[in-house]
Amino acid sequence: MSTRYPKDVEGQPNAQDDYAADGYEEVPLISPKETQYSPQKRHFSWIHIFVAFLAGILVQFFVGSMSSGSISLPDWSISSGVSSNTDANDGLVPPYVGSTEVHNYPPTDPTGVDTELFPTNVGYAGPTPTGAEPAVFLTAPSYPQHSGAANLLVPPKFFGAKTSSGKPFDLFRSWGNLSPWFSVPKGAFGVNSGPEPPETCRVTGLHFVHRHGARYPTGSKGYGSVAKFATKIHDYGTKWSAHGSLSFLNDWTYKLGEEILTPFGRHQLFDLGVSMRMKYGFLLKNFTETNTLPVFRTESQNRMWSSAMHFAIGFFGYPFEGQYEQSITVEHEGFNNTLSPEKTCPNEHLTNRATWYVRRWVEIYLKAARKRLNAHLDGIKLEPEDVYGMQMMCAYETVALGYSKFCELFTVEEWEGFDYSLDIYFWYDSAFGSPFGKVLGIGYIQELVARLTRTPIPVHNTSTNGTLDDNHITFPLDGRSLYVDATHEVVVLQILTALNLSTLADSGPLPYDHIPKERSFRSSLLAPFATNIQFQLLSCADPSLTSTEQIRVIVNDGVVPLSPLKGCFKDPKHGMCSVSGFVESMKESISELDWTWYCHGNWTLPKGDKWKTVDGTVHREDL
Ligand SMILES: *[C@@H]1O[C@H](CO)[C@@H](O)[C@H](O)[C@H]1NC(C)=O
Ligand SMILES: *[C@@H]1O[C@H](CO)[C@@H](O)[C@H](O)[C@H]1NC(C)=O
Ligand SMILES: *[C@@H]1O[C@H](CO)[C@@H](O)[C@H](O)[C@H]1NC(C)=O
Ligand SMILES: *[C@@H]1O[C@H](CO)[C@@H](O)[C@H](O)[C@H]1NC(C)=O
Ligand SMILES: *[C@@H]1O[C@H](CO)[C@@H](O)[C@H](O)[C@H]1NC(C)=O
Ligand SMILES: *[C@@H]1O[C@H](CO)[C@@H](O)[C@H](O)[C@H]1NC(C)=O
Repeated sequence: MSTRYPKDVEGQPNAQDDYAADGYEEVPLISPKETQYSPQKRHFSWIHIFVAFLAGILVQFFVGSMSSGSISLPDWSISSGVSSNTDANDGLVPPYVGSTEVHNYPPTDPTGVDTELFPTNVGYAGPTPTGAEPAVFLTAPSYPQHSGAANLLVPPKFFGAKTSSGKPFDLFRSWGNLSPWFSVPKGAFGVNSGPEPPETCRVTGLHFVHRHGARYPTGSKGYGSVAKFATKIHDYGTKWSAHGSLSFLNDWTYKLGEEILTPFGRHQLFDLGVSMRMKYGFLLKNFTETNTLPVFRTESQNRMWSSAMHFAIGFFGYPFEGQYEQSITVEHEGFNNTLSPEKTCPNEHLTNRATWYVRRWVEIYLKAARKRLNAHLDGIKLEPEDVYGMQMMCAYETVALGYSKFCELFTVEEWEGFDYSLDIYFWYDSAFGSPFGKVLGIGYIQELVARLTRTPIPVHNTSTNGTLDDNHITFPLDGRSLYVDATHEVVVLQILTALNLSTLADSGPLPYDHIPKERSFRSSLLAPFATNIQFQLLSCADPSLTSTEQIRVIVNDGVVPLSPLKGCFKDPKHGMCSVSGFVESMKESISELDWTWYCHGNWTLPKGDKWKTVDGTVHREDL
């Protein structure tokens, strides 16, 4: 029997082979971060509520008319590529309960529906002149920061709370890859500059990569999965009871769906689209002048498609037809796709040592919590994995339902531990600690180099898709000033790893027995919901620069230094690199990686923590 367990692109395995042994295991989702940021501000003015309400109506209207309109959509299969193959578990895990409360909206065949009586265009729109494009970060004295998470509520217990190092604690920034994205503090990645261009430079282009918004849990039921926890609770029927802080569990139901965006996740992408239009709208002038349209890319998976649609509504407004071209690439096993690269790399399951680390860390940092919570339960006993699942539940319920009773069960220190568990997971699963970090990110780098140099990819022997990338309509190489690509957080991390941004890795390998005092690798900063990378192109008149054309990498509004790259000089102030030096470094990285060996070679790694990397590659001589 094949031992290849398909892995969800979000980083959750679909199945685990050996739960307890030191073998390869896959972990569940998410990542955390601890906070040195200002506490969550909760001010809901009527304007906010009104704007949110309006946006909601627009979105509903759009989505409603999409499904009945003339645009033909691919046949979405929610589980596409992430089949929850629980039958591959050799009976080690039970079948899981689905949601124990489901509302099945919309009704399948509602009465009183008459599209003729509700025409989508009745004329009489009034005058519609457009103005100039915004460029807020060029015209305002500062760059607009993204903070807070509209419509989500923090338990009062955490108001004014401090982290263990005395900084303001923010629960929403302590959930690793499940954190809603936020502007990282200035200097977070080592360059004390914001996305505003240096004085002598003007912004000439943007290559933008973003993750989907907040989603329900994936279909994979990895270690600490919320569905596993729900199953445990509901399988026990009436034989147990909870009291004290856990009494809410007595009539708690599991209300989460799977895989798709939550309402808050839709809002995040709509908001991201608005915010990018406010900042980079001026780049559209170039398209009018050259009589072309931007091409944006996303994948077929429902939440990826939906994220791209909501981004477009935010960026272009509804209706966006005629304003841009949307490429929807197939995300499925066997389809070359740089935005879901593991689907063409059969060896990728070798990477699944991440859970090995997480499990060990969980048993340490949640020890006291487990004891405390078990004291409030009769007839059922929580294992470390269950307690971890309850922390996951807090994050998932909050981004899906707005609030979760599970959040207040844990202390600030335990949230710091949770955040760190996700740093560990993503470090070893997708980034600098993963044997596949670099090779899986390289396809996107090849595309970036192609776009920057206006030169087609010479040979398609990685995750690139020649059918799409060699076609100048689906993959224009004429130096467009704006590109937008949607993907998953694991791919964002693989791209950062392939970029060789080693300052992000300087705290690794991450230990599983304590949280390092300083660490630059934080999944909440790098891979939260709606995380985004700006590859910002600049033209600079500074005579001290060797070249006028410069590039910067800006992750969640924080500039990441390009100085580790061979072809880049040290620019501690702005983090820039000449486009030519950047391209030369990327070409060197591309030439170093042998996709065929990585993805199809017959090789294996020592188990557990006996093998390590800090640059996301396997050095064959070490095997
Ligand atoms: C390239 O992408 C297209 C569209 O997603 C897909 O139909 C095609 O099968 C892909 N080619 C390969 C070799 O995967
Ligand atoms: C798809 O990827 C494989 C593996 O890298 C490669 O051999 C093949 O040429 C690619 N196909 C296309 C159409 O790009
Ligand atoms: C549009 O942008 C591209 C890439 O930056 C540039 O080469 C071109 O000159 C611009 N065109 C106009 C009309 O500004
Ligand atoms: C990648 O980073 C390492 C460590 O900073 C550096 O030694 C190496 O030269 C870099 N490689 C390239 C191609 O830039
Ligand atoms: C892919 O093609 C390039 C260009 O011909 C070549 O340099 C590289 O070695 C190839 N890689 C693999 C793994 O075949
Ligand atoms: C893979 O390598 C192992 C160990 O060297 C060997 O026993 C096995 O036969 C190889 N499998 C294949 C398919 O070549």
